[in-house]
Amino acid sequence: MLDLADEECLTLWRDLKLGYTESTGHPLLRAEIASLYRHITPDETLTFAGAEEAIYILLNVLLGAGDHAVVAWPAYQSLYEVARSTGASVDLLELHESSGWALDLNALQRLLRPTTRLIVVNFPHNPTGTLPDRESFGALIDMARYAGCWLLSDEVYRGLEYDDADRLPAVCDQYEHGISLGVMSKAYALAGLRVGWIVCRNADLLGRLAAFKDYTTICNSAPSEILALAALRARESLLARSRAIVTGNLVYLDRFFSEWSGAFRWVRPRAGSVAFPKLTANSSIESFAADLVEHEGVLLLPGTLFGHAGNHFRLGFGRRDLPEALEGLERFAALQLR
Ligand SMILES: Cc1ncc(COP(=O)(O)O)c(C=O)c1O
Repeated sequence: MLDLADEECLTLWRDLKLGYTESTGHPLLRAEIASLYRHITPDETLTFAGAEEAIYILLNVLLGAGDHAVVAWPAYQSLYEVARSTGASVDLLELHESSGWALDLNALQRLLRPTTRLIVVNFPHNPTGTLPDRESFGALIDMARYAGCWLLSDEVYRGLEYDDADRLPAVCDQYEHGISLGVMSKAYALAGLRVGWIVCRNADLLGRLAAFKDYTTICNSAPSEILALAALRARESLLARSRAIVTGNLVYLDRFFSEWSGAFRWVRPRAGSVAFPKLTANSSIESFAADLVEHEGVLLLPGTLFGHAGNHFRLGFGRRDLPEALEGLERFAALQLR
């Protein structure tokens, strides 16, 4: 990171003091985060220890007993489990493989209630890699506005679209009650920094989030803030690096799913570094994955572990060792499934 840092960041790094930092985030970091969006000022950003702390605090501040939330599912577990833990009633808006994991706005309409306080979506989506088109995304925002509820858009994989033209606008730029969630972990591949953020145009909500943060982490790690600043300033090269890894791995995966079409199928992701394929051969994904990790040291995450019953598995392809892992999977599949 330091090799990519500009002069100002190098000076900040050299003069770094390991005291408490500003609890809302380093002012330069907040300004850099704001520059990722179109209509956002630094005051409309708030930093957290990763996206995870942001999710925990946001859902605890927005939801409680008597509230209703709708969360698109399958999903990153915290998005619905933390919501449930607040005492709110949570409906899952199910995405289906048969429709290419598309967002079903009719189903959403049926789930909305007068008490619905929050809708939660995550695009580019973990685990399916699905991404709605702009029209559907706009219609989602219209529905949230009409229902008068908050819309949390988990945008941690934003920037990892395989075609730049597919990038959706950030919800905070489009909707006055839209909340955009970002982080250094995914598209920028710097999870160890533990720097995430929420961006929203509602000062009252931001104030309540900041007050809650006084009871969790108080402020970010001082070295991480400077490294995150340097990284965001060098974002074009970091994003290009991540996209090159992911699209390079997709070439291997395309070949795999075409050669193994009798045993596996997938909806090819449109963005991100995660897919949610299905084992169609006559074998349970749980026992297949358990034997695979035993024999080859290759780990697939069965969907059953997060309550998805369709014999699907979560496949991550954001690392350079994917081809090696795929070789292990193919060796094992050749023994078990042919
Ligand atoms: C969709 C999504 N949101 C949020 C997070 C949390 O990010 P972090 O671990 O950087 O806090 C993750 C992590 O896997 C994720 O996949």
